[in-house]
Amino acid sequence: MKWGISLPSKVVVGAQWGDEGKGKVIDILASRAEMVVRSQGGNNAGHTVEANGEVYKLHLIPSGILYAKTPCLIGCGVVIDPKAILEEIDSLESRGISCDNLRIDPRAHVIMPWHIELDGLGEAARGSADIGTTKRGIGPCYMDKAERCGLRIYDLVNDCFAEKAAAVCALKNKLITAVYGGAPLDAAAIIPEYVGYGKRLRKYVADVSVLTYNAIKAGRKVLFEGAQGALLDLDLGTYPYVTSSHPTAGGFCVGTGIGPTCIDEVIGVAKAYTTRVGKGPFPTELNDAMGEMIRTRGNEFGTTTGRPRRTGWFDAVIVRHAVRINGLTSIALNKLDTLSGIDELKICAAYRMEDGTEITDFPPTLEQLADCTPVYITLKGFDGDLSGCRSFDSLPGNAKAYLTQIEKLIEFPIGMVGIGPGREQNIER
Ligand code: GDP
Ligand code: IMO
Ligand code: MG
Repeated sequence: MKWGISLPSKVVVGAQWGDEGKGKVIDILASRAEMVVRSQGGNNAGHTVEANGEVYKLHLIPSGILYAKTPCLIGCGVVIDPKAILEEIDSLESRGISCDNLRIDPRAHVIMPWHIELDGLGEAARGSADIGTTKRGIGPCYMDKAERCGLRIYDLVNDCFAEKAAAVCALKNKLITAVYGGAPLDAAAIIPEYVGYGKRLRKYVADVSVLTYNAIKAGRKVLFEGAQGALLDLDLGTYPYVTSSHPTAGGFCVGTGIGPTCIDEVIGVAKAYTTRVGKGPFPTELNDAMGEMIRTRGNEFGTTTGRPRRTGWFDAVIVRHAVRINGLTSIALNKLDTLSGIDELKICAAYRMEDGTEITDFPPTLEQLADCTPVYITLKGFDGDLSGCRSFDSLPGNAKAYLTQIEKLIEFPIGMVGIGPGREQNIER
């Protein structure tokens, strides 16, 4: 996990279903970085940083923003709600955090009001089979990008915007009214509002591919901040209960405009247990008092939507999947402190299929996953306040045994252990 001379660029990705504490890890590593880049997702993300007695909840702006001199870039793969990013900039600046070093790629797509409307209408139409999206318009915006009718940041900040937006709005109104029976949106009100957002955002626009490549070529330490997590990847996650981008290491290349040879290290962030917001399979979910206890102790409520997070035991099968699909080079395991005081801890080591065979590779489809039940290893719990521990050796014996068992199952070393939400509540090995 140390910055090495030949290891200047690191990617930080979620190794479960999001909310693993990526914001905290980015904030810690950003103290040693010279650039932080976001490459996918949008304001469906909620990254919490606790520093200097303050709590910051970041949605679109990279978590390196607390370091005034560090350029924070938003790449072409991110979808941007202009109103939301301006609110975030205003909120940070009102707290004394400058956003002067923020840059946004002109190719990034803009989330427009029809995307948010269609996200809600699509979810309602799915009824009980809804995905449980954040309703921030993420899926519909990525749909338009793939369909090639999206509006980009370049359009938003230039004169072509009004004409292009009017044409797209007319098309989307047909969809909203004829397919979903919704009320049409008023382009005459939306366009001037968004022209205003474009004027304010113009000063931040720059080619993020060029800036990132030049920084890497010059040997600068570049940190890539992932949003969401491996199991929410559009292709490799629990489809269709996923997000519409690629939160895995490969996604950073396309979402920034750099090649894979520019990435030296890939750090996966996981929790010492598992959580998930929204619908979809969750093999180790605890729908009982233990699940409730973990939710309460871990304060497991969504950073973006405030929804209670579903909780469950650590699942080594999904983290092994994250190790493989990201080509991880290290793991940061957060929230070990939340498990303190629990008598017995379980870790899912494998899945048992209906015919009795056991598998350790996460199945590719929900239909195959439906045939699986978790096989648990039970370990003795640990107690005491871990937040003061600053070395692996100072952790209680049973906590060390828990970590060692996880390492054995995922066949991978844990490089960082989180024992509290603060910057300093962290053990590096
Ligand atoms: P992200 O989306 O991956 O950045 O994670 P979130 O910010 O949505 O959720 C993680 C939550 O856990 C935040 O409230 C963090 O402040 C908190 N957190 C991160 N690491 C630790 C840790 O090691 N211990 C405890 N108790 N909280 C942590
Ligand atoms: P961070 O970066 C946890 C989930 C939603 C839903 C699914 C699809 O904070 O880890 P979407 O609005 O993206 O179309 O919703 O993905 N989801 C997240 N869950 N953390 C996130 O981000 C998430 N971003 C999206 O809850 O299940
Ligand atoms: Mg989050």
